[in-house]
Amino acid sequence: MMWGHEQHYAMEQYAEIFMFLAVGIVTGVLSDRERKRRNELQITARKLSQVYRELQDTFEQVKRAHRLSAIGQLAAGLAHEIRNPLASIDGAAEVLDEADERPELRKETVSIIRKECSRLNRLLTGLLDFARPRRPEWREVELCRVMDSVIDLVSHSAGKGIRFHKETPREILRLVGDQEQLTQVMLNLTLNAAQAMPEGGDVWLTARQDEDGIMIQIKDQGAGIPEENLDKIFDPFFTTKDTGTGLGLSVAHQIVTQHGGTIMVSRNPDKGTTFNLFFPQSRGDLA
Ligand SMILES: Nc1ncnc2c1ncn2[C@@H]1O[C@H](COP(=O)(O)OP(=O)(O)O)[C@@H](O)[C@H]1O
Ligand SMILES: [Mg+2]
Repeated sequence: MMWGHEQHYAMEQYAEIFMFLAVGIVTGVLSDRERKRRNELQITARKLSQVYRELQDTFEQVKRAHRLSAIGQLAAGLAHEIRNPLASIDGAAEVLDEADERPELRKETVSIIRKECSRLNRLLTGLLDFARPRRPEWREVELCRVMDSVIDLVSHSAGKGIRFHKETPREILRLVGDQEQLTQVMLNLTLNAAQAMPEGGDVWLTARQDEDGIMIQIKDQGAGIPEENLDKIFDPFFTTKDTGTGLGLSVAHQIVTQHGGTIMVSRNPDKGTTFNLFFPQSRGDLA
């Protein structure tokens, strides 16, 4: 009996030892695995942060290259825009040199010089608006008044066959912004609309309050913008006009962006072009 008891006891002890061993092995394997996984994670984290640094470097390089190419393009465009009127003025001066006895030729040549000078002047004004936009003076602007003054200004220079229509809601629409700059945006767009219709037509200036902001639309029945030009028209100096500066839309784009808004262009299904401006009402703009 004693022997039987001892044998039983020894078996229990063996079982216990075996269990301890098994638990030890399993725990060892598990902790080994965890260590491995932690190592892997650390390596992945290091790789990720290296990739992140490289990405950041690349991003900075791309930004710099983009800036440089924008400056290059601007300079090339500017050189081209200045060279043309300069060549005209130079040519006119030469003619003046020899036109002593012919007063009518003299007069015509002087008028060319004047015209080219005023073109250069316009270019410079536009360029300064673009390159050194002044800080906006934030005020509550009544859109209806801005539209009235724009229509008034453009009517003087637009051809006779052009009719302007203003569509605004009955309640007063107000936007927090710089009155002069907002007028300039609408003026540039309305002038373009009028210039796109040398034979005459209608221009609609519409403003309305949307759920989350103010929509302004300027729509014409003009020649329209060819599909391939749609992504160039906001570039400085892009113009299809003989006397254009190509700065009107880039100035407009800059001002609208500075006001937290967006400007979009679309071709009308029938005829002409529509520019859509949107100013979100995130700053509690409405009085
Ligand atoms: N309403 C429009 N209809 C047709 N073409 C337009 C219109 N607005 C702009 N464009 C095109 O975009 C070009 C750039 O316009 P803008 O920047 O105002 O310069 P500019 O009027 O001096 O040419 C214009 O030359 C013209 O080709
Ligand atoms: Mg223009």
